[in-house]
Amino acid sequence: MKTIFDKTNFVNLPIKNRIFRSAVWEGLAKNEHMTDELFRTYEELAKGGTGVIITSFVTVNPDDIPAPNMLGIYDDSFIEEYKKLTDMVHSYGAKIFIQLVAGGSQGRNNSNLGKTIYGPSAHVNPITGIEAVEMSKEKIDEVVQLFKDASARAKESGFDGVEIHAAHGYLISQFLNPLFNKREDEYGGDVDGRGRLLIDTYLSVREAVGDDFIVGMKINCDDFVDGGFNFGESSWICERMAMMGMDFIEISGGNAIRKVTSPEEESYFKAFANIVAEDNNIPVILVGGNRDIDSVEEILNNSSIEYFAFARPLIREPNLPNRWESGDRARAKCISCNRCKGENGVSCIFNR
Ligand SMILES: Cc1cc2nc3c(=O)[nH]c(=O)nc-3n(C[C@H](O)[C@H](O)[C@H](O)COP(=O)(O)O)c2cc1C
Repeated sequence: MKTIFDKTNFVNLPIKNRIFRSAVWEGLAKNEHMTDELFRTYEELAKGGTGVIITSFVTVNPDDIPAPNMLGIYDDSFIEEYKKLTDMVHSYGAKIFIQLVAGGSQGRNNSNLGKTIYGPSAHVNPITGIEAVEMSKEKIDEVVQLFKDASARAKESGFDGVEIHAAHGYLISQFLNPLFNKREDEYGGDVDGRGRLLIDTYLSVREAVGDDFIVGMKINCDDFVDGGFNFGESSWICERMAMMGMDFIEISGGNAIRKVTSPEEESYFKAFANIVAEDNNIPVILVGGNRDIDSVEEILNNSSIEYFAFARPLIREPNLPNRWESGDRARAKCISCNRCKGENGVSCIFNR
C-alpha cells in the first residue's frame, strides 16, 4: 500500500512525502520583492510538513505584473532574497519550486494600467476587459528570453525546480486556446502551432538550467469553454512535452477554483490527470479539490497519479500535513472559499 507520506524520488529529488503546495498568489510582496510577512507564510508551510512548496506565480516580466503585490524575478536583485527563502525551506527538510508566469490580458492589476498588454492575437479579455495587442515574433522571442533568464536566476537562488505556468488563461494558456489565438503564423493554427510558445519556453528554460534540474508545467486539462483548449489537445501537448524531456506535469483546468462542498466534488480533475499519468512516463501532480486523505490515498493506490497538490487547504491550515501524519486524519478544513472567515487566524487572501 502506498501512502501520502512515502518518501520518494521526485524525478531525481528525494522528497519526504507526496504533498505539494500548489502555487498560491499571496498578495504580500512589495514592488515584486519578498516581505517579512511573505517569508513567514512560507516558513509556516515548510514547518507544517509540506513536501514541496510551489511558490505563488512569479512574474518574469517587469512590464507585465498580472496581480497586485505579487513576486517577480525579472532581474538579479531578487537572487539574494530568494536564497534566504530557499535556505529557510530546506532547513525544514522541505523542497521549493518556483512558478514562472507571463501574465497577458488575464492579469488584474492597476499597476498594469497604461501599459501595453500583449496576447497571441488582438482581443478584449472577456473577464478582465483588458485590451491586448497581438505579439510580433520579436515580442514572442522577448518573452521566451525572459523565462530563460528567470530560470537561470531561480537555479542560482537555490530553488529545486521550475514550474512553467501554462494554465488558467495567462499568456501561454492563451496561446493554447483557439478563442484567443487566431494567428496565421507558426504560433497559431493547430495545437502544434498554438503550443509553440510553450515548447519554445520549455526549451529555453531547459537550456538555462541544464538536464539535471527539474522543469515542469501546470496546464489545464481542459478550458471548459466552448471552442477553447480541450482535453484531446491538452493530452497531446502533455505527451509532446514529456517526450521532449519535461520532468513533471501538474494537471489543473478551467479557472482552477471550484467549490468543494461534498465528497463527490473532491479531486475534480482526477479522471483527466489519470489519463495523462497513464500515457506518460513522468510524474503527474493532481490539484483541485483534494480534501480528504483517505480519498487521496485511494486515488494513489488505484490510479497512476503519484502526487497531490493543495492550495486552499494549506491557506486555511498550513500544518495540515503534520496533522494528518500525527494520526488526526480529519478532512482538510477548507470547504470552499469565503466560508471559513479565517477562523484559525490564518491570513487567507479571501479574508483580508
Ligand atoms: C488565493 C489563490 C491564489 C492562487 N494563485 C495561483 C497562482 O499563483 N498560480 C496558480 O497556478 N494557481 C493559483 N491558484 C490556483 C491553485 O493553485 C489551485 O489550482 C486551485 O486553488 C485548486 O486547488 P485547491 O482546491 O487545493 O484550492 C490560486 C488559488 C487561490 C485560492
